[in-house]
Amino acid sequence: MQKTTLISLLVAAVLLSACSDRVKDTHPQQLVSKRQAIFKKFTKTLEPMGLVARERQDYVKSDFMASALALQELSQQPWAYFTADGNYPPTRAKPEVWSQAGEFKQAQNNYLASVEKLVQLSGRADLPTIRASVEAVQKNCKSCHDQFRSDAPGG
Ligand code: HEC
Repeated sequence: MQKTTLISLLVAAVLLSACSDRVKDTHPQQLVSKRQAIFKKFTKTLEPMGLVARERQDYVKSDFMASALALQELSQQPWAYFTADGNYPPTRAKPEVWSQAGEFKQAQNNYLASVEKLVQLSGRADLPTIRASVEAVQKNCKSCHDQFRSDAPGG
């Protein structure tokens, strides 16, 4: 390979990676990255329970209970990272998280109550009950997102 070709390839690669890079989280405590990583785990942990609710996976009591407990533990975690200095790019949180802190707290509490109920009912091998509790949790994810998360691309 000619030297100039190699150099232009390298330049192209650098430019490409610069373009595809999302805005960097430069906060010393990485608040946005940390809470986004936890929210991603929400999705991953909820997924197998969603499959059971939609009858795409069999209900296995011990697995289902473990997933519900794992989600409950995760569900305590993201909120502490929404501090007063936590509204900066690349966040997808709407400014209402900070300007309507009371409503944001209420949305957390509604959500946490639905997760608590899911945990309590998770040992029941009764599909309608299981389905209703999973759907209630999903509804609370969505209603908080509708109110407090912008739909910018990227997940
Ligand atoms: C009380 C409000 C609230 C609840 C409840 C909530 N979220 Fe979110 N979620 C947010 C906010 C705000 C963001 C944006 C965070 C940011 O970008 O700073 C977010 C971001 C996310 C993201 C994107 C993470 C990323 O990498 O950008 C995923 C995925 C997500 N939530 C999944 C869920 C799931 C699944 C549930 C329910 C099991 C849930 N969330 C419940 C408020 C909530």
